Amino acid sequence: MTETPTAATDCLEIQRHGLSLRLPALWLRERCSDPQSLDRRSWQRLYEPARLPLDLRVLEYRDDAEQLHLVFSDGHRGTLAWAELDMELAEAGDSRTAWDGGLSSLPRYAYAGLDEAGVMLQALRDFRRLGFVILEDTPTAPGSILDIAARFGHVRDTNWGKVFDVQAKAGDAANDLAYTSLPLPPHTDNPYRNPVPGIQLLHALVNEAEGGLSTLVDGLAVARRLQAEDPAAWAVLTTTPVRFMFRDPGVAELQCWAPLLALDHLGRFQGIRYSSRLDYVPLLAPETLAEFYRARQKLAELLDDPDLEIRFRLDAGTLLMMDNQRLLHGRTAFQQGGARHLQGCYIDHDGPDSRLRVLAEMRG
Ligand SMILES: [Fe+2]
Repeated sequence: MTETPTAATDCLEIQRHGLSLRLPALWLRERCSDPQSLDRRSWQRLYEPARLPLDLRVLEYRDDAEQLHLVFSDGHRGTLAWAELDMELAEAGDSRTAWDGGLSSLPRYAYAGLDEAGVMLQALRDFRRLGFVILEDTPTAPGSILDIAARFGHVRDTNWGKVFDVQAKAGDAANDLAYTSLPLPPHTDNPYRNPVPGIQLLHALVNEAEGGLSTLVDGLAVARRLQAEDPAAWAVLTTTPVRFMFRDPGVAELQCWAPLLALDHLGRFQGIRYSSRLDYVPLLAPETLAEFYRARQKLAELLDDPDLEIRFRLDAGTLLMMDNQRLLHGRTAFQQGGARHLQGCYIDHDGPDSRLRVLAEMRG
């Protein structure tokens, strides 16, 4: 199909995959992928887009199966590949699937299977979709979590070191409730860090303790329910920054201000920070605070709803990789006595996100 606008336009209107799209001239010009516009190796622009005329218009266009051919009012003749536009539209879509306690089959993968690119791609897609994967039959030598993490991304070093050990410790040595045998309610890790850890890996080296089941709740499912059932609570929790804090005297004093629920540029749930022992709402007007406390209570009720939670045992050699900005994790109490040793570390979203795109592109 070939079309030419009857007059120059600052906004092209086209149909694509059943969608009516309005594409401004400057937006199109910035996405031109012809060799004059873009270095094809690095995918970086060869000109300064901030210097383009703000009144840029499209003078002519025609399309074929591969690309859109454009002539702009600044004299540039460029092309935009349909594949690029489709990728842009897909990014605006939501590849996450909200789940609850009825999630029937958990995304379990044999660790050795990840050597196969197709299996790795499927695991990464499951991670994107559900926010977690479980790897089985992993090596159980202490520190091997670092090799496993390196398959997905770069390990984040913190004041805990690259790896933290989750073992019940006696008395004062337990500088976090994780290091006791107490149950842990649903929480996200380290909301007091800036930036907050993106992904947590938790690796069972030994687990002979009775109890101590791992629990997960999908923050996406909780957020969607809150938004539908209590829009006022949603509004408060997405707009009120609170101070998250962690203190280890003489070692670290970490603070980060953030709302409990963060939104993306499209106003959708992006992430949750929730660790009810660590948040401090600022001194706001009493009526605003009353609304905040009511909203947080509503959120806590949803997070504690057993119908939204899944439970499973992390046996020795099993590793849980979870999105720390989407999922809440916890554990049931366990008996002191049976040996239990887990190791954890954090990686950023960049690693798995990039690997997913590279593998998806390689495999068409
Ligand atoms: Fe935790």
